[in-house]
Amino acid sequence: MNEEQDKILFVKEKLEILICQYPFWETLNPKLHLLIKELPDFYQKSTNVKAKMTHYSVINKDFMKIAKWVHQKIPKILSQGIITTSSFKLVNIWGALYNENDYTVSHKHRPSTYSFVYFVNVPKNSSPLVFDYSNTKIYPHPGKCVIFPSWISHKVPKNKSKERSVISGNFAYMPENDVISF
Ligand SMILES: [Fe+2]
Repeated sequence: MNEEQDKILFVKEKLEILICQYPFWETLNPKLHLLIKELPDFYQKSTNVKAKMTHYSVINKDFMKIAKWVHQKIPKILSQGIITTSSFKLVNIWGALYNENDYTVSHKHRPSTYSFVYFVNVPKNSSPLVFDYSNTKIYPHPGKCVIFPSWISHKVPKNKSKERSVISGNFAYMPENDVISF
C-alpha cells in the first residue's frame, strides 16, 4: 500500500473510564470553588469550553492536591503492565465555572494520554459529562472524578444550574529512559 492509500478506519472498541471519589472533598471543594470563581476568565469562551475558564496551567497548592491524587489513580485505569505512575506527567490543569446555558462542545484532549474531570461544586440540575459516541452520561457529584483516555470525544450539554464548577487536567506518557532512538 502506498501513502496515497492511507486511510482512517473508525472502529468500536471498549475503553476504560475510571470513576473515583476524592475522600477529602468536603473540606477542599469550597476552597477550590472560590479559587475558580476568583481566577480570571482567561479564554472568554474562545475554546471548546463555552463557560468561564481559567488559564490551562493553574499552579496552586489545592489544585495540585487533586492532580497528585489523580496521578496515583492512573494505574487503576491501565489494564496491565505499567504499575508506576512516574512516566506520566501533568501537562495541564484548569478550572471551569458553568452558569445557566453554559456548555462545552464535543472535543478530545489529544495528544495527551489520560485526562480527568473532577467535580467541585454541583448545584441541583448541573449537567453531566457526556462521552458522545456512546452517549454515556456521567452524572456529577461533589468530589467525584472521571479519568479517561484523552482521545475519547466528550462534551457538556447546556447547564441548568448556577456555578457548576470543575477542575480538568491532562497527563501525558513521557518515559525518561526507556525510549528508542531512530
Ligand atoms: Fe474536555
